[in-house]
Amino acid sequence: MDADAKKKAAARAALDYVEDGMTVGVGTGSTVNHFIAALKDRRHRIAGAVSSSEASTRLLAESGIEVKSLNDTGDLALYVDGADEATRHLALIKGGGGALTREKIVAAASRRFVCIVDDTKLVDVLGRFPLPVEVIPMARSLVARKLAGMGGQPVLRQGFRTDNGNEILDVHNLKITDPVALEEKIGLLVGVVEVGLFARRGADVLLVAGDGGVRKLTR
Ligand code: 5RP
Repeated sequence: MDADAKKKAAARAALDYVEDGMTVGVGTGSTVNHFIAALKDRRHRIAGAVSSSEASTRLLAESGIEVKSLNDTGDLALYVDGADEATRHLALIKGGGGALTREKIVAAASRRFVCIVDDTKLVDVLGRFPLPVEVIPMARSLVARKLAGMGGQPVLRQGFRTDNGNEILDVHNLKITDPVALEEKIGLLVGVVEVGLFARRGADVLLVAGDGGVRKLTR
């Protein structure tokens, strides 16, 4: 099975968590795009969706799914999103698509976070995938120096602005043995909007698609 078929399998498995009448939190990325495609068939049975990016908002709207504001819905029962890396303890690196801040907001507002990945994303230690950090543009160099002081190699994502109008530093060469501590440490740097570590609030369910089917890992 190729990577895209695995993403599709993980996305379809997430449908088991969607209940009638729900407003579903929806993440961003190619795996989530498969989830939105699957959700389209259920569009008359759900109340709508809260989106984590302009790209997902467009796709949801094209699929006939009403996109609601998180300020109107209150807390959500379910959030479904992909990840760039995941551990067996359900800590994640996210933000490869640059939507980490809104993703973290929707995850924080949701009672259950179901993360959908293919098995190439499962790692023992986070950090092989460069860690995305969203920064206020005028603080880019300041934050980069602090991240270098932590042992990372920050690289500005060229020609990219987030949906919030900010920039992304992708931090290479971090071996993240304590993701909760690093999430807190980077999150406290002045000028950082969000860091793509999802460890304090990691996933509740990780659906990992491989050649043998979809495996479910829980906290
Ligand atoms: C976007 C994300 C995505 O969830 C992550 O990049 C995974 O993407 P894909 O499903 O395309 O592999 O965090 O900000």
